[in-house]
Amino acid sequence: MAQLWGGRFTKETDQLVYRFNASISFDQKFYRQDVEGSMAHVRMLAKQGILTEEERNQILSGLESILADVETGKLTITDRYEDIHSFVEANLIDRIGEAGKKLHTGRSRNDQVALDMRLYTRDEVAETDGLLKKLLEVLLRIMEENTETIMPGFTHLQKAQPVTLAHHMGAYFEMFKRDRSRLSDIRERMNYCPLGAGALAGTTYPLDREYTAELLGFYGPVLNSMDAVSDRDYLIEYLSAMSTIMMHLSRFCEEIIIWNSNEYRFVEIDDAYSTGSSIMPQKKNPDIAELVRGKTGRVYGALMSLLTTMKGIPLAYNKDMQEDKELVFDAIDTVKGCIALFTGMLDTMNFCLERMNDSARHGFTNATDAADYLVNHGVPFRDAHGIVGRLVLYCIERNMALDDMSLEEYKAISPIFEEDIYKAVSMENCVNKRLTIGAPGKEAMEQVIQYYREYLGA
Ligand code: ARG
Repeated sequence: MAQLWGGRFTKETDQLVYRFNASISFDQKFYRQDVEGSMAHVRMLAKQGILTEEERNQILSGLESILADVETGKLTITDRYEDIHSFVEANLIDRIGEAGKKLHTGRSRNDQVALDMRLYTRDEVAETDGLLKKLLEVLLRIMEENTETIMPGFTHLQKAQPVTLAHHMGAYFEMFKRDRSRLSDIRERMNYCPLGAGALAGTTYPLDREYTAELLGFYGPVLNSMDAVSDRDYLIEYLSAMSTIMMHLSRFCEEIIIWNSNEYRFVEIDDAYSTGSSIMPQKKNPDIAELVRGKTGRVYGALMSLLTTMKGIPLAYNKDMQEDKELVFDAIDTVKGCIALFTGMLDTMNFCLERMNDSARHGFTNATDAADYLVNHGVPFRDAHGIVGRLVLYCIERNMALDDMSLEEYKAISPIFEEDIYKAVSMENCVNKRLTIGAPGKEAMEQVIQYYREYLGA
């Protein structure tokens, strides 16, 4: 074991304690951010005259070589070190000697780890956003191709009114668009630099925190050094946003699983995204959709876990906070994996347009339109509702759809009906009359699609 802090101790750390305390098995994930943060710190120290030019250059090239060697696999990160910070510093000293010992001037691992985690998270927020954007591109393509694909819209999972596939996909477009905007809010709020906060109370060195912040692409320094080392709000926000993304994906998966079922057959998941059964030769299961739905619980768990960890921590840094990493890393990897897989599954999925159309036609999804027809002919809505209820009952008993009825049959139930009832209850008409913005009518939908194109292009 190699530690940074042996000086005031007279005994070796107990092996179990060492292992319980160590974080290198997971914090090595941000080795790059740790090195980049150190580089900015050293540049600032030299600018402030705290390090000489010579020392700065030595440290920078030492850090660069460490980064390159880790990246090419020449240097392996091992658990001989307590954490990634110790690993980098010890390696630096090995490589460049005395100057390396000055790297940690005016810095604590408390502000260092706060910085590393922020840099890592900032990159991951951007990556999550990029993946969501790809998902939206697939959704938009499906929308563009299906403004006339009629399907039943559901409430209570009962057929309600006809919509189009474009319209249904558009609902998810809105959800994932909001998810992206949540990510961008998080970035805005978190993009302040904790470095220079020291252990908790700043340092006595004349650090230029604005400069370090600028070098690392932050808007500025965090304005309170105690908050800088102990704030994990941005992780909670990110976990919350990721939980919402998973909730959206999970709902979508649930629908796909239903649509892919033998009873519905609205969609067929591509072979590449389905799995078989070891015993039942006929099976083709939607495992990917089920797994995404299942992994949602895991991401919610990370959110609950970190909220709970943070709730009892007095200011400023406490070791409890080390628990943020495994949770957040796991959630990020889970969510990114789920978005990417889901996008592939959706992109290759076959929509069975005939089945959808047929299902809309045979579920009385046009019953409201039949009632509206009567209202337009002067019948009060409540009476119209009753008349159409009787029509529906008549059809159910004879296993037919509203538009299969003859005009005589219509007239037997209400003499108000005329030949134009067929147009009024045709699926195409039911959908295309719905033209307020946000409704499934083709013209309204085209307007929204145009807006989405511009949104994705920007
Ligand atoms: N591994 C620690 C963490 O993740 C780094 C900070 C350690 N600071 C300390 N005072 N022990 O939080």
